[in-house]
Amino acid sequence: MSDSRPIGVFDSGIGGLTVVKALRELLPNENIFYLGDTARVPYGGKSASTVERYSIEMTDLLVVEDVKAVVIACNSASAVALPKLEETLSVPVIGVIKPGAQAALAATRNQHVGVIGTRATIKSGAYERELRALNPHVRVSACACPLLVPLIEEGWLEDELTDRVIARYLGPLVHQGIDTLVLGCTHYPLLVHAISRALPKTVSLVDSARNCAMAVKKLLDRQSLHAPRDSEGTLQVALTDAPDTFLGVARRALQLEIGKVQLREVLHPAKL
Ligand code: DGL
Repeated sequence: MSDSRPIGVFDSGIGGLTVVKALRELLPNENIFYLGDTARVPYGGKSASTVERYSIEMTDLLVVEDVKAVVIACNSASAVALPKLEETLSVPVIGVIKPGAQAALAATRNQHVGVIGTRATIKSGAYERELRALNPHVRVSACACPLLVPLIEEGWLEDELTDRVIARYLGPLVHQGIDTLVLGCTHYPLLVHAISRALPKTVSLVDSARNCAMAVKKLLDRQSLHAPRDSEGTLQVALTDAPDTFLGVARRALQLEIGKVQLREVLHPAKL
């Protein structure tokens, strides 16, 4: 059995392309429909109820595209909207939090995990909950890093100012003794080199994008949803507003082939 419908991937903006990159590498036969809510990015500083509402509107658009599964390639949306989406969507849905937590527990040796993300993600406590549900003895040190997303969007991936901001955020986590750090924001894999430089060699990095892609593969295996083996997967990118310079930054940093970007209007419940 095979299923050539696309996998629907959504993010608050362009950052979720880090998840698309990981999906393309792991599942080259799959068609992907990526939807970025560039009209309303960032989600990271918004309230949980607003992020949940936006997430429902975005996944409604993906359902219109006849996707076979939904990937929430946004930590902020996964942190606050996953339970609601699991309850309401007719297709399977995967977020980035659980795969990241599982990978962090597999990596830690001293059972002390650090988590960085947007304010919405850290405030939700979603990583702590997931980590503790899997291992009640784990210690979690979490830190919101709201300045990192704008620096990444500016393209300052290798920059002395970015290095200083990272050092300021990560210093206390290192001091507290973490041996594993979860990059709990889909933008952060673009800063992996700068973040690695700021950490002692003994600290392992967990990239939620790669782990999310592996969770998607397991889901397709379990539910026999794989595309035909001989097909060559395509990538369609749609945004809710015209792309800005960050699309160029991401395209270059990720070496991702993105064709013509489509535009989608958010459907409000009355229009559905
Ligand atoms: N995609 C968001 C996340 O992973 C970061 C950007 C935003 O704040 O919307 O949390």
